[in-house]
Amino acid sequence: MIRINNQDEYQHYYTQALNEPNEFWSEVASSFTWRKPWTSVSTGDFENLDIKWFNGAELNITENCLDRHLKTQPHKTAIIFEPNNPDSATRTFTYKELHTEVCRAANMLKQQNVKKGDVVCFYMSMIPELLIGVLACARIGAVHSVVFGGFSSKALSDRINDCKAKVLITNDSGFRGTKEVLLKNICDKALETSPSISTVIIKKHSGSPVNLKSNRDFWWDELTNKITSSDCLPEVMQAEDPLFILYTSGSTGKPKGLLHTTAGYMVFAQYSFENVFQMKSDNDIFWCTADIGWITGHSYITYGPLLAGVTQVMFEGVPNWPDAGRFWQTIDKHKVTHFYTAPTAIRALEACDINLVKKQNLSSLKVLGSVGEPINVEAWDWYNKNVGHKNCPIVDTWWQTETGGIMISPLAGITNTIPCFAMSPLPGVQLKLMDAQGQVVEENGVEGNLVITAPWPSIARTIYGDHNRYKDVYFSDYKGTYFTGDGAKRDDNGFYRIIGRVDDVMNVSGHRIGTAEVEDALNQHPQVVESAVVGYPHNIKGQGIYAYIICLNKCEGEALKTELLDTVTQQIGAFAKPDKIQVVSGLPKTRSGKIMRRILRKVANNDTSDLGDTSTLLNPEIVEEVMKRNTL
Ligand code: PRX
Repeated sequence: MIRINNQDEYQHYYTQALNEPNEFWSEVASSFTWRKPWTSVSTGDFENLDIKWFNGAELNITENCLDRHLKTQPHKTAIIFEPNNPDSATRTFTYKELHTEVCRAANMLKQQNVKKGDVVCFYMSMIPELLIGVLACARIGAVHSVVFGGFSSKALSDRINDCKAKVLITNDSGFRGTKEVLLKNICDKALETSPSISTVIIKKHSGSPVNLKSNRDFWWDELTNKITSSDCLPEVMQAEDPLFILYTSGSTGKPKGLLHTTAGYMVFAQYSFENVFQMKSDNDIFWCTADIGWITGHSYITYGPLLAGVTQVMFEGVPNWPDAGRFWQTIDKHKVTHFYTAPTAIRALEACDINLVKKQNLSSLKVLGSVGEPINVEAWDWYNKNVGHKNCPIVDTWWQTETGGIMISPLAGITNTIPCFAMSPLPGVQLKLMDAQGQVVEENGVEGNLVITAPWPSIARTIYGDHNRYKDVYFSDYKGTYFTGDGAKRDDNGFYRIIGRVDDVMNVSGHRIGTAEVEDALNQHPQVVESAVVGYPHNIKGQGIYAYIICLNKCEGEALKTELLDTVTQQIGAFAKPDKIQVVSGLPKTRSGKIMRRILRKVANNDTSDLGDTSTLLNPEIVEEVMKRNTL
């Protein structure tokens, strides 16, 4: 492993990774447990897209997350589970205990006839069995596909069908604050249209009643109780064997199942975790508040911290229950040193009673992190002052589901930060900015589209089942480079600030949602003839969702609104509900029939002073109506 300790070393390794990438990555990968060494560090490029890292190597990622720590620190706490209700008991797992649980779950999966290469879908609360189940898959070479528990039955079914998952693992129901989510019921509904699932395994968690379908549904506890062996030999995996599929939204079409493979993902997860967060003491405690249903929970709950052998908190609940001091109370309760959360949570808590944060001690904190969306100056300052007591470096980490790990970020305590700047790429990450003409912008003090010019170990290798789409979405805008979909600013000193998406992807409370997905959902309502959805700035969520719809008949305000919101909740999930809906008689279109989103965005942003050139519109008269902004 390479651990960067100061700015000189950063420069040294950045240059080495650029000029001698094989030497650099070999050294990073040297500390892992390999069953067989690689024959080549990296092959493939962004032209042929047959990217391979550590090819020829054999390994199992769980051997690196668990077994290797058993030799040195079997009794170190791996997971401190903080349940939704603060009065419920905390559960902890040492590395040894976690190893045992994972092995038992892996044996259970084997007994259910899950084999290497089979896809296992998870639709669960943030409880230890989610993490244990995911690792159990990796132990036996099954591919995990975790679906965030906030998705609807329709969205779950679509994802199961896309990857043809064989087994679905869930829990009876889960609580988020006071709200009960009936996960098993939602699974039952999803399975009406998902025939590939032959087995459902249910972890009893809330105790709420569920329907069990015979020969299909089994209790997790009953199955694991029958397992006598607490060891399970790890399946020997090839470096490029699939590790997981994770769905994310794009600017067009249905969600994409990004496929991550084993060795490169593993190496980058630990490398980025250790260097960005700089956990130094054995007593340091990490807490990432993300859900394992998103990439942050994959790389910086499930894999990164366990690979690094640290202690971490896993949290089931929500930031504002029992009150908006829950994060701060939990930091004190478990003496968290490294805290990683999203700007949307910071903004929401900033809007609450300041005494909730002031009354907590928070003196254990050493490093703060931010992820998922651009952080605004007010939130950055508030986080720095009230949570970090101006004593904790803030690492604003930019990355994506596709990148597998953090790409641009300060290194805690090493990089001098500028508020809201992700600063510099990690050694091994090569960035460029492109202008509107598709030319590289070399100078500083500019904005442009962010691209990555060379493969890195944890890049998603394909979109599951659709390699052409993968080529098209990421590598066709700028030939030979990976286009991130984000815009960024590079300041006069070469430091990066991420501006946000430049495509039709919204970032709503840190959730990545395609405008096309919400439009498709709205169009399912029988009254909707056509819809157009754009994002607009929102104080707490970062972006809100603004939907313009054309209706068939006379539209009834509140009733229609409720129905439309229900439709989106059913098609995607409640987190994708539009904040504003405006009924219009037409949408501004070009003569070729394309919706002019630029105008809709400006209106939604309440910035109509300069709508730009509207002369090419087929129906310019509609602009005036749209500008009325009379939402339901
Ligand atoms: O727009 C960027 C934004 O989140 C997008 C990726 O979303 P997702 O794949 O869901 O992964 C989120 C967690 C890694 C990016 O294209 N984004 C992520 N981190 C930042 C960010 N925008 C600004 N600053 C960040 N630190």
